[in-house]
Amino acid sequence: MMCKIGVFDSGIGGLTVLHSCVNRVEGEYYYYGDNLNAPYGTKSEEEIYALSKRAFELFLRLRVDAAVIACNTVTAVCIDRLRREYPFPIVGTEPAVALAAKHHKKCLLLATRATLSSERVHKLLAAFPKTEFTLLAPDGLVEEIEKKRTELSRVDLSFLNGFSDVGVVLGCTHFVWLKERIEKFFPVYDGNEGIASRLHAMIEGMKGTENHILKGEEAREGLVLKTNKNVKICFIGGDFVRNYEIYEQMFF
Ligand code: DGL
Repeated sequence: MMCKIGVFDSGIGGLTVLHSCVNRVEGEYYYYGDNLNAPYGTKSEEEIYALSKRAFELFLRLRVDAAVIACNTVTAVCIDRLRREYPFPIVGTEPAVALAAKHHKKCLLLATRATLSSERVHKLLAAFPKTEFTLLAPDGLVEEIEKKRTELSRVDLSFLNGFSDVGVVLGCTHFVWLKERIEKFFPVYDGNEGIASRLHAMIEGMKGTENHILKGEEAREGLVLKTNKNVKICFIGGDFVRNYEIYEQMFF
């Protein structure tokens, strides 16, 4: 039996996380990308929590064995609440500052406003007192990436002007789509491989205890992509047709 894994983001950012997870962990994936309500990063905590609950209620009905919050913003704002409320384990996404701080005295953390003003991220940064962090939430960047997925070479990177000798931390999964471009100028860090490793360890630890032996509901609406006999991805929620197409175009 394959494990059922829910993956959630406000839109297409989490598709890069999904790809890292799929490469590492076999399973039946449910990708919920809430494009219709993106961006989350400029919303209030309560709004972000309420939107996240919609995805998690669906994961609950599908009886997932584990969920991945492929979104720094949701993790920063409400992962603790979601962990208390749902019976399955949840892997979150946090800015890869530990990795960047190993190599750089100065780091630029790019993330959404909600992430940068969260207590969780401030606590994380406080663990690296010797590193100088500049925090930046580029205006409108998440919307631009949602819109321009097919022409990312045209996304304006002028927000990087004036920085030098910094390690850049991509603290928003949408920004991972710009990794190759930003890497031409700076060393870049993201958390995708770390998330896949944590999911792998979690799933290994629960082998034999998968709860879908009690059959969950079927997804009512969605598109299924079967990549091989050990991985199946069902795109649900939001603009699932577009998320399916982007994933298929980029990764197959
Ligand atoms: N992809 C998300 C993140 O990692 C959120 C983007 C947004 O909707 O503002 O923070």
